[in-house]
Order: sequence, then C-alpha cells, then structure tokens
Amino acid sequence: MTNTMKAVRLHEFGGPDVLHYEDAPRPIAEAGEVLVRVHAASLNPPDLHLREGYRSLPPEWQPSSVFPMILGTDISGVVTAVGDEVSGFSIGDEVYAMVRFPQDIMTGSGAYAEYVRVPANELALKPAGITHVEAAGAPMSLLTVWQFLIELGHDAPNPLQSFQHVPIPLKGRKVMVNGAGGGVGHLAVQIAKWQGAHVIAVASGKHQSLLCELGTDEFIDYNKTAAESVAQDVDLVIDAVGGANMERFLSVIKPGGALFLMNPIGFSGYEEAVKSEITVSFTQVRSSGRQLVEAGRLLEQGIIRIIVDSTYPLAQASAAHKRASRGSIQGKIVLINA
Ligand SMILES: NC(=O)c1ccc[n+]([C@@H]2O[C@H](COP(=O)([O-])OP(=O)(O)OC[C@H]3O[C@@H](n4cnc5c(N)ncnc54)[C@H](OP(=O)(O)O)[C@@H]3O)[C@@H](O)[C@H]2O)c1
Repeated sequence: MTNTMKAVRLHEFGGPDVLHYEDAPRPIAEAGEVLVRVHAASLNPPDLHLREGYRSLPPEWQPSSVFPMILGTDISGVVTAVGDEVSGFSIGDEVYAMVRFPQDIMTGSGAYAEYVRVPANELALKPAGITHVEAAGAPMSLLTVWQFLIELGHDAPNPLQSFQHVPIPLKGRKVMVNGAGGGVGHLAVQIAKWQGAHVIAVASGKHQSLLCELGTDEFIDYNKTAAESVAQDVDLVIDAVGGANMERFLSVIKPGGALFLMNPIGFSGYEEAVKSEITVSFTQVRSSGRQLVEAGRLLEQGIIRIIVDSTYPLAQASAAHKRASRGSIQGKIVLINA
C-alpha cells in the first residue's frame, strides 16, 4: 500500500474551479477509527458553503484557512483498515457514514477522496440491496430527517435555539414538505408517509411524478400556486429550502401545530408563532452510526429509497458543484470513485 491517494482538494476558497483532483497523503485510522476506501461520496449544501468559505456568515464566524482542504461528509465504501479499540467492523465490510459532522464543519471531513478515516461510532453497515451510489446519497439527508422527525438521538446543545428539538407524532397528521424534491425533502416525504401522515409536497413541477410515486398525497407546484393560498389545517410544515419569507407557512398551520425549519437563518416569525400557538423548531444534524443502522433498515426493506439526481467521477467534482449551484436538484448528486 502506498501512502498517497487521489483526492479533490482546495487550496483557497472560491467557486467550483478551486476543486482540484490531485495526489494527497493517505489518512491512517487512529484509535477508535476505521479507514474506508470510498466508492461513492455525495454532495450536501455545507460542502458548497465551505468551498466558498461560508462567505454569507459574519466574518467572525467564517473558517480560518486550513489548506489544503478536502470537502465532503457522506460516503459509502469498504473498510480497508481498523484502528485500535474498534469492535464491530472488519476489513472488507461495506459501510456508509456521515463523517465528523458538525465537528469538522469548518475544515472538511475528507470524503471527496479515495480513502477517508471514520470514527467507528459514525459508521454503519451499508444496507443490503442498495448500491454504494445510493448509500452515499443517504447519510446527511437521512439523518437530518430522522433527527427532526423520529428521534433526536443526542443531547448536544442546539446552536440556534435555547431548547432541544423534539419530534412530534405523525400518524394521521397532515404534513407539508416544502422543497420536497431535494435531498432532505424527498426523504422527509417518504419518512412522514411511512409514519402514517397525509403528505403534501411543495416543489417545482418537474418533481411531481416522482413525488407521487414516493407516496405524496397532494402536490403543489410552487411556480403555479403559492402553498399558503391553498393548504390549510396543516399539523406540521417542514421547510427544507430556507431563505426568504418562511413566515408565510405559519398561516397554514393549526394552533398546536409545528413548523420545522431545516435552515432557520432569516426567519422572523417567532412572535407570530407564539400568538398562533405554533412551535417553531430547528436542530443541526449530527453524525450517528446507530441511527444509520436504524434508518438503514428502511432502505434495506425498500420502504424508502434514495433518488439520484446525477453522478460524476470523483475527478469531476467541480462539474458536480456546478450542477449543484444550478439548483432544482432531484434527490442527490453523487461522486463516484471508480
Ligand atoms: N438542519 C440541518 O442540520 C440541515 C441538514 C441538511 C440540510 N439542511 C438544509 O436543508 C435545506 C435543503 O437541503 P438539501 O440537501 O435537501 O438541498 P437540495 O438537495 O439542494 O434541495 C433543495 C430543494 O429545494 C427546491 N426548491 C428551491 N427553491 C424552492 C422554493 N422556492 N420552494 C420550494 N422548493 C424549492 C429545489 O428544487 P425545485 O426548485 O426544483 O423544487 C430542491 O429540490 C438547505 O437549506 C440545507 O442547508 C439543514
């Protein structure tokens, strides 16, 4: 085994062209870690934010330069080495993980590479019957939905609110998912449906047939109809888009209902929510091998599935980032390490 590998690295923050496929030192599994040969790695919004140096944040929150940097958190691959103090994983195991998130949010977790070291407690066996591409598409989006809707699973402080997020029962409830075609959204639709909710999906028209296939009961094309003008008596709105005017969803929610914001920055409806008896809540996703085992059973049983928007060779990560920047993503964008 040589001590180098191929990886996509950046030496400065900027646009997609700062991503370079080049030689890099091969990581070594430390105590409590395994080394994984990456077969596939998916893109998530934090990858794009970090590539740009989180330029939308106030300067004091922006990352200091730790170059060269390797982006990416979500992988599926095969264990090639096992560090000390690791039990439960062996060389040759097919595994998937969201790596060191949010611990490495400002430095990159190293997934856009041939090899990545992964804490064993963040790892799970890849669900049988799905491909590495599909498994790599799952971790961050699936853990986000799981921790918002099913089980928080940790007691780490919440970075943007003073109380811990608490999932609510979904059986028989009316749940609206905004951004339903994206990585988080298409899994929120499926998990809410699995829980027995009546699901309204809000997305652009290109996602309608897919979302109906995935179990959506009602579809709203936001380019034709404002969701808040037609939806009513909703128990829970999940906003998987963020940005401007998230307050508009308060008007469709019943008193006693909830608004879960995947990205609450800019939300200004807290007072109105209190008056309307609506709980507004956010949580930041955290790595968890245990939850990937639990949620992975749904992938294994075909109860939920990962939709792949597009794939790119690892060497073409900059093209994948250009695709992500164009938006309107359906499911996940995945890098393949041949
Ligand atoms: N809290 C957490 O820890 C956490 C974790 C992961 C992600 N997030 C956040 O969750 C959000 C979604 O992440 P993601 O990975 O799912 O992103 P994504 O894959 O890019 O999906 C975003 C989706 O939103 C849709 N969209 C764009 N504008 C819209 C609008 N005005 N109305 C309705 N839909 C619209 C897009 O497609 P169409 O426009 O074609 O419908 C796309 O499918 C991001 O803000 C991300 O930062 C938070």
